[in-house]
Amino acid sequence: MPPNCPVWFCQAGKRSSAGREGAALEALGANDPTTVGNYQLAAVLGSGGMGRVYLAHSPSGRRVAIKVIRADLVQEFTHHYPFQIIYRQLDLPPEDVGVFHKLAIAQTVVSYDVAHGTEASRKLGVYFKALLDERRRHPGNDLVSLLAQAEVDGETLPEEILISFLRQLVNAGGDTTYRATSVLLTGLLTNPEQLAAVRADRSLIPQAIEEALRWDGPVLIASRTPVIDTELCGVALPAGANLSVAAGSANRDPARFDDPDRFDIFRKKQRHFGFAFGPHVCIGQHLARLEMTRALNALLDHLPNLRLDPDHPPPQVQGTMMRVPKHIHVRFD
Ligand code: HEM
Repeated sequence: MPPNCPVWFCQAGKRSSAGREGAALEALGANDPTTVGNYQLAAVLGSGGMGRVYLAHSPSGRRVAIKVIRADLVQEFTHHYPFQIIYRQLDLPPEDVGVFHKLAIAQTVVSYDVAHGTEASRKLGVYFKALLDERRRHPGNDLVSLLAQAEVDGETLPEEILISFLRQLVNAGGDTTYRATSVLLTGLLTNPEQLAAVRADRSLIPQAIEEALRWDGPVLIASRTPVIDTELCGVALPAGANLSVAAGSANRDPARFDDPDRFDIFRKKQRHFGFAFGPHVCIGQHLARLEMTRALNALLDHLPNLRLDPDHPPPQVQGTMMRVPKHIHVRFD
């Protein structure tokens, strides 16, 4: 048995571990556990995508491949997919992607581990400087080449601006969208009747995405500075003050949203604060919606009967600044 094998095979008549053999049963399409027990696991053939493929011996000695039907959608899917989109836009050399991804994630820990986050950010800066130099010499159709050659009023953009934009983009585009996609899946999987509705009618996907961004959008706080002395709800806001706008609170304002804590893709359509407002509104919002749509469609297309795995606790969206569930354990047929 390989370590961490998500399927436990049982010997005839014996139970391997509470509930676990159910997955093997489904994978084999058999209803009798003793039949399942006669299969002997031989080798792991492949993994890394959704589920893993195992080689087993049937009672007649025939070798059969078995698709294991469990996955953690966060660790195996959402935590990678939006970053891969950004890396393609930057046209990162494939051999750099592994280390780059680690640095991009490490950069996000800066709010609670300043030393580690700052060091990752510095290394990313060094990497982007070399990449900009290289793309100036050999431009392509990627975003780094476009930025390296972009001109404003006849002048190229200063290097520190380019580097800090690229650094921000990796997290603004990757980290947020991985979180938002995970929240969308949490909302749907914990409300199976709404997941079934989306499965039956994919035109509901856009409203499911907007509801996920309202219900538990990944960015809880946005910073704002009044440019003039003003007042909001009786509170004086002097020009130049640093304001923390609680997006999470605005998105659950009971004066605006009925039963605001409930995930409900059928609620009345109203604008939410998930991408903020104003001149600094998210410039990647349309890409984010597209990525989330593609992600959900791909899961519904390729993982039939997708549902929560009852052997694991249901996903819980957590975090004070940025929100995400750590795991979404699922089964599929
Ligand atoms: C669901 C995913 C996303 C969420 C929830 C999100 C959320 C936000 C929010 C709330 C802001 C405004 C911050 C503020 O006003 O202070 C913002 C800004 C920004 N976002 Fe997104 N974002 C997402 C995806 C993306 C993507 C895919 C990209 C690019 C590929 C992106 C790029 C940016 C950039 C560059 C800014 C700064 C805009 C500016 O300061 O003018 N975002 N995002």
